[in-house]
Amino acid sequence: MDATRQRFLMCRPTYFAVDYAINPWMDPNAPVDTDLAIRQWERLRQVYRDLGHTVEEITPLPGLPDMVFAANGGTVIDGKAMAVQFRDPQRADEAPAYRAWFEGAGFELYDPKHVNEGEGDVLLAGDHLLAGTGFRTAHAAHAQLQEVFGYPVITMQLVDPRFYHLDTALTVLDERTVAYLPEAFSPGSQAVLRRLFPDAVHATMADAEVLGLNAVSDGRHVVLPAQATDLAAKLRDRGYQTIGVDLSELRKAGGGPKCCTLRLRQGKASK
Ligand code: ARG
Repeated sequence: MDATRQRFLMCRPTYFAVDYAINPWMDPNAPVDTDLAIRQWERLRQVYRDLGHTVEEITPLPGLPDMVFAANGGTVIDGKAMAVQFRDPQRADEAPAYRAWFEGAGFELYDPKHVNEGEGDVLLAGDHLLAGTGFRTAHAAHAQLQEVFGYPVITMQLVDPRFYHLDTALTVLDERTVAYLPEAFSPGSQAVLRRLFPDAVHATMADAEVLGLNAVSDGRHVVLPAQATDLAAKLRDRGYQTIGVDLSELRKAGGGPKCCTLRLRQGKASK
């Protein structure tokens, strides 16, 4: 399996905290160690660098504790960047910050017409865009994604509030394969996934409950939460190299490695 060099956007968790609850993982009364969160995040960034990937950084803003979750900052494919519109007012001010970053970086910008939480819910799998809905990204946003990017969009209906973003329930391993938690999807979406990806890796609830599916693959190496040991073993059986990272503090906000990582896809060549 070939690894593809990636360009990522990340945001240091300088102001990370759990001050509000917009998903079932978040408990504002539970203690959070921001310094530990920063060290764990720096380790993730180092893992990417060691794999030969490029990491760009956006400046974190005070008062936006979830801004570390860069995957929600946009969807970037073929040099086009679609900005986001958050469901929750607590995260609304992140959208213009990410939008400005894309503009400064020279991407062709598109503005969302509906709630759209970026790569948290929009994953490119080969020639299809898998788009989640049910909790955050509106179904209506899917039509706009198809129009902007020109990839067929497949709607994925999420049904378990713990797996509120598509990237908490499914991870793209390479152009042909994904791993997912079947129970996180409606029966119809499960049938679509079986049809599109007959060789997919099925994760267990235990893997998903440590956000094991919130993983980042370059086609050969899969970076995933260290606690997702069963999933890691299954991936190694399939020939992937797994790299476990501990993001225990960010998990208190419902985020893992993928949430911290926005893929910047330049042009066709580096798709
Ligand atoms: N606390 C954040 C929220 O609920 C976590 C976002 C995680 N990001 C992701 N791509 N799943 O919005």
